[in-house]
Amino acid sequence: MKIAVYPGSFDPITLGHLNIIKRASRIFDRVIVCVAVNSAKKPTFTLKERADFVSRVTGKYGNVDVATCDGLLVDFAREQKAGFIIKGLRAVSDFEMEFQIALLNKKLAPEIETVFLTADEKYTYLSSTIAREMATYNADISKVVPREITADVLRRLSNK
Ligand code: PNS
Repeated sequence: MKIAVYPGSFDPITLGHLNIIKRASRIFDRVIVCVAVNSAKKPTFTLKERADFVSRVTGKYGNVDVATCDGLLVDFAREQKAGFIIKGLRAVSDFEMEFQIALLNKKLAPEIETVFLTADEKYTYLSSTIAREMATYNADISKVVPREITADVLRRLSNK
């Protein structure tokens, strides 16, 4: 059974993330979306809120599960018996950091392969940062985050 972990902050999950999850669910037998703590970031939504958002929008995919992780990603992947870590790439600028992380994770867990999926062209400009920024100004975020969570994201961030 091919099990993959798709980690990220998902603060909040975007349509770009969802597109990667959907495609990964066709490649792997089981995909575990791991809502993780990124020590370099101060998230807007709590770990639980972010995981709830991901659960709500991925409920329809039978082989996708959601978990949270506040430790090393490779430890989590090993616990889950996952052989793969999935990363989405939007642009060359994403690659430098992700390449470094992939090499580090390979050193820590040589049996786990990092697999890069390129973002669908129509989502390359999206990010959680953009979603939060738009929501702050009460802009229409329906083209950025899944419709199941738009109201909650706006309620939290909108100034109006
Ligand atoms: O969506 P993000 O913030 O780019 O996700 C980054 C994340 C959470 C995948 C990365 O920070 C991570 O893997 N964190 C888990 C802790 C860990 O294993 N760190 C070592 C690899 S960077």
